[in-house]
Amino acid sequence: MAYKILVLKGDGIGPEVVGEALQVLKIIGRRSAVDLEFKEGMIGGHALDTAGTPLPDEVLKHAQDSDAILLGAVGGPKWDKPNAEKRPEQALLGLRKALGLFANVRPVKTVRELMAASPLKPEVIAGVDVVIIRELTGGIYYGKPSEKRTAKDGREAVDTCFYTEAEITRVLKFGFELARERRKKLTSVDKANVLATSRLWREIATELSAQFKDVAFENQLVDSMAMHLIRRPKDFDVVVTENMFGDILTDEASVLAGSMGLLPSASLGEELNSAGFRVGLYEPIHGSAPEIAGRDEANPLAAILSAAMLLEHSLGMRSEAELISQAVDSVVRDGYRTRDLHGGTGTQIVGCKAMGRLVREKIESSESEGE
Ligand code: IPM
Ligand code: MG
Repeated sequence: MAYKILVLKGDGIGPEVVGEALQVLKIIGRRSAVDLEFKEGMIGGHALDTAGTPLPDEVLKHAQDSDAILLGAVGGPKWDKPNAEKRPEQALLGLRKALGLFANVRPVKTVRELMAASPLKPEVIAGVDVVIIRELTGGIYYGKPSEKRTAKDGREAVDTCFYTEAEITRVLKFGFELARERRKKLTSVDKANVLATSRLWREIATELSAQFKDVAFENQLVDSMAMHLIRRPKDFDVVVTENMFGDILTDEASVLAGSMGLLPSASLGEELNSAGFRVGLYEPIHGSAPEIAGRDEANPLAAILSAAMLLEHSLGMRSEAELISQAVDSVVRDGYRTRDLHGGTGTQIVGCKAMGRLVREKIESSESEGE
């Protein structure tokens, strides 16, 4: 059986970090019974320069035809013109929408050895294990109208936050089901004291909670949640929220883990692939970091862990995914760090390529141990 994986390296450090993750996947492919078939496509600024559009039709077609997609990052100062009609980020939004990837899963866990990389106190972040589920295909990111226009007394602009019951229900359900497999706690985040969409969100979340009586449920307002998340992060298990709140809270949550360079993500929809699992888009939560692009300084661990999530969620290869995360833990325990993870005694700073190679060596040596 061959599974089709589309690789979209994108801009900035995207090609470097995805290059390392791809090599990890190739090792897994070689040792397992399944055939992983990789195809590469262009996306973002690179595609804009080459094909005149951030998400070329044929790339979208390949994406729709794939079992899973691994993506790096898009964007950079070169394309940062606020009034430009075409922007690299549109590719991401277009891909998410076209594939119906409504649930963005962003797990945040602290690793003991890396706690020094976080500015927060170790006693606050030790043992944090939270998954933020961000609604990804609705809300203010997609609502119409969304435009800047000229009015009688000057410029004005409008964005629209719009949600249907079905959109809210499916992502909350996804969260409740995940909570059931974890510590059975769900926090739904909204701004119900101000926004109509949030009041609908809260109403539906509260109704749904009655169907999941085994899951402890609470509603939180997004502003106080922003505070609780860094004050008492251990209290949270599964957090579900709308698109923009999720975008903001997940960047905040990355501080708990020490670096954005460590955090993977999965974006999943309803559709099943040829492996019988959900089609998914897997990407690190960090951006394209143009300032360090091409310097072999980027941290490939988030991309490598995204590849692990791909194996688990889209191909059902749980033990292979576990093998990769153990290899990452083990390299970190050995003291290897990329520059984003503050060093300290007993640590050694390595580049992107070396970090990738170290992870692969761990995987290969644990394989031979297992044989
Ligand atoms: C993210 C990013 C994107 C988003 C940008 C690049 C469009 O910040 O994936 O979190 O806002 O969704
Ligand atoms: Mg973001």
